[in-house]
Amino acid sequence: TLSLYADKIEALKQKFGPSLVIMGHHYQQDEIMRHVDLAGDSLQLAQMMDGIDAEHIVFCGVHFMAESAKLLAKPEQKVYLPDMGASCLMAEMVPAQALDVVIEKISAHGKKIVPLAYVNTSLAVKAIVGKHGGAVCTSSNAKKMLEWAYGQGESVLFLPDRNLGNNVGNMLGIAQDKRHTLDVRNNGGNLDYDAIDRAELIFWDGCCPIHEFFKEEHIAFMRQKYPQAKIYVHPECPQEIVEKCDGAGSTSYLIDVAEKARKGDVLIIGTEANLVNRLARVHEKRGVTVIPLFAEAFCPDMAKITEGLLYKTLEDIAANKACPVEIDGSMVEDAKESLVRMLNHCA
Ligand code: 13P
Ligand code: SF4
Repeated sequence: TLSLYADKIEALKQKFGPSLVIMGHHYQQDEIMRHVDLAGDSLQLAQMMDGIDAEHIVFCGVHFMAESAKLLAKPEQKVYLPDMGASCLMAEMVPAQALDVVIEKISAHGKKIVPLAYVNTSLAVKAIVGKHGGAVCTSSNAKKMLEWAYGQGESVLFLPDRNLGNNVGNMLGIAQDKRHTLDVRNNGGNLDYDAIDRAELIFWDGCCPIHEFFKEEHIAFMRQKYPQAKIYVHPECPQEIVEKCDGAGSTSYLIDVAEKARKGDVLIIGTEANLVNRLARVHEKRGVTVIPLFAEAFCPDMAKITEGLLYKTLEDIAANKACPVEIDGSMVEDAKESLVRMLNHCA
C-alpha cells in the first residue's frame, strides 16, 4: 500500500542498526507489522526480552505489554510505546487499589487465596499479585499456571478475565459450583462471603470487550453456512463459544492452526480482526480459506499505533527527545517476582 511513512521508517531503522528493535503484538495493523523485527503473542514477547541487547526498544502494542517489557529489560534499555494512550480495556477493569482492598478483605475473612493475574494487567496490579505470592499467566500457559497456583493453596483468585478463567477451569475440571465471580463494585463492598468460602476458583469480573462480543449465534450461523469448516477462537471468548468450537488458544496457536491447514480447508477464526484478516490474506494464496467469526472485532487500542506515530517515535529517539515508558521503582521487585514466577515455571 501507498504510504507516506514506510520508506522513512525503514531508512531510520537502517540508521539505528542494532541499537534499535521494533517489537509487535499479533493484533497490530499490517502497516505496523511490516516494520516489526520481533512479532509474538504475549508470552513470546515477554520471553524474547532476555535475548535483546538493543538500547532502544519500540513496542507496538498496548501499555501493559510495554510496561512488562520495561520490567524485564536491562536497566539501561529504553522502551517506547508510540501512543502512550494505547491501553487495554480489560486491564483497566482491575484498579490496583480495588484489588488490594478485595484481597485484604478476603484474607481478613480467613480465606487463603493465591492470585493469578493474566498478563493483561497494570504494573501496580502485578506488584500486588507478586506481594501476595501469586504469579502472572498468559493465554498460552494459563492451564499450567492455574495448576501451579493450586499447588500453592486451596483456592485461586483469577483476574481480570473471567472468560479465560472459566475456560481454563473447564480444562482442569473445576466444578461450576466451585466457581464464583466477585461483585467488585464499590471497592469490593458487595462481597458474598458464603460463595467465596465455597469456591475453589474465584474470578474478578473482567473481560475483553472485543472477545466478549462473540456470540453463540455467530457460531451457529457459520456452522450452517460452512458445514465443512473448522472453528477456532481465542480463550478470551465466553465459555459457551469455546465449548462449541473445534479448538481455542492464544494468538500464536491460531496462527499455527492456519499454517497447518491444507489446500481446500476452510477455517473460521474468532479473535481480533487485524490478525484474522492477515491470516486470510496470507493463506488465500495457497488455497486455504480463513473467515473471521466476526469481521468487525477490532481492538481500538491496538489500532492506536499507526505508521505515522511509529515514524514520529523513531524520529524523536534519533533527536533524543522521545519519552520512554517509566515504571514506579517501588513496585518493580514485587511485579517482577510475579512475572518471573511464570517465566521460570514455563521456560
Ligand atoms: P495472546 O497474544 O497472548 O494470545 O494475547 C491476546 C491479547 O488479547 C493480547 O491483548
Ligand atoms: Fe485488551 Fe482485548 Fe485489546 Fe487485547 S484485544 S488489548 S485484551 S482490549
